Amino acid sequence: MRSYKAKMVEPIELPSREEREAALERAGYNVFNLDARDVYIDLLTDSGTGTMSAEQWAAMIRGDEAYAGSESFARLAESVRDVMGFEYVIPTHQGRGAENVLYGVLLEEGDVVPNNSHFDTTRAHVVNQGAEPVDCPSPAARDPNSNEKFKGNFDIDAGYALVEEVGEDAIPVVVQTITNNSVAGQPVSMANIRAVAEFARDIDALFVIDACRFAENAHFIKEHEAGYEDQSVAEIAREQFAHADAITMSGKKDALVNIGGFTAMRDETTFEHAKQRAILFEGFPTYGGLSGRDIEAMAVGLREAVSPPYVSDRVEQVAELGDLLSEEGVPVYLPTGGHAVYLDAGEIFPHIPKDQYPGQELVCALYREGGVRGVELGGFAFPGTDRPDLVRLALPRRTYSYEHLEHIAETAATVMETAEEYRGLEIVEEPPMKELRHFSARLEPV
Ligand code: F0G
Repeated sequence: MRSYKAKMVEPIELPSREEREAALERAGYNVFNLDARDVYIDLLTDSGTGTMSAEQWAAMIRGDEAYAGSESFARLAESVRDVMGFEYVIPTHQGRGAENVLYGVLLEEGDVVPNNSHFDTTRAHVVNQGAEPVDCPSPAARDPNSNEKFKGNFDIDAGYALVEEVGEDAIPVVVQTITNNSVAGQPVSMANIRAVAEFARDIDALFVIDACRFAENAHFIKEHEAGYEDQSVAEIAREQFAHADAITMSGKKDALVNIGGFTAMRDETTFEHAKQRAILFEGFPTYGGLSGRDIEAMAVGLREAVSPPYVSDRVEQVAELGDLLSEEGVPVYLPTGGHAVYLDAGEIFPHIPKDQYPGQELVCALYREGGVRGVELGGFAFPGTDRPDLVRLALPRRTYSYEHLEHIAETAATVMETAEEYRGLEIVEEPPMKELRHFSARLEPV
């Protein structure tokens, strides 16, 4: 059941089919190049695109814009202490700023970093320090149809195999991403968080949680892990963090803001080092590249994220979209994750070869048929890997209504009706760094 109503609205418009086709052609069949005003329902990301509450907007007026020692910072630090249990916090402009600050302090050339799955920017910041990121996803993640509940888990055996290979001295940090964005937004269990903490302790490494979607993860633990059904999401959230030494956080997800992030930790020495790096890259450590008002919104958003019924409502809406799509016969990754529904383009277009990007073809088809913008996370975004050709439909928080979900499902159903007519795409222009090509490459129908 929706637990909010609209207080402010933003008009959206579905351009005509001709306009959509022309926009797609202008964009080089890459939806990152579309003008947002040409998009009817924008599911490109759940990051910074959600709706803030009246309380958040009210708090923004209180923003203390002092360069140093602002009261807004004190309020954020208090929220982080209450909601997440960390003593030391440094605000940053967004999640990747937090990664830069923390990993710049913790990693050196030649280090190796295991993670259940690195998000792209996390991977890039590990590499930027001269270290090697290694993904250790649960084998269950590979099956899009198994109904296992915690497919986002870290594979501890893979972690120990890595230790065998590179030696424990090479691994100063172990990371766990909750929920696991790169594995269809799947959650990790508390048992797995405990096991990763133990693994890190065993090899004398720090345990860092990538906390972006920590409230959604806590919700899944409450729903599906024995022993947690009677605990509140707030209690579960705190227990998740009780096992970790530090976190990086993108406030644009579960702090319910349009911009902002932070890193937080228990160790004072790490904090002091991180503050120096924050000054270099983000700003004085009580504002970290944000205005006081942005920090206020984040302080309030963090508390809202763990206050019922926000997060059950949120995750239910994502599941609702998954159900509507499944009812239309659209193959979706099961179970649906916390922030997005992932469609299997390989199954929708089995006749399109991988090097003609079935996922990107599906992204374009959804836009052409219904003005819906998703994102490809398969062979186009991750060249040279054998990832399945998934398309992510990420739902912004507290933003769209049931009628919007119905439109999305109907659009996908329309594409399915003529699936065999689609031929795929070829790249005609791409940037030198292939890893970043999905942001700017241009394509053409085959
Ligand atoms: N970690 C995870 C798991 C993320 O999903 C993201 C961002 C980041 C770190 C970086 O945070 O964007 O604030 O710098 N994910 C967005 C997405 C961009 O669309 O999944 P950021």
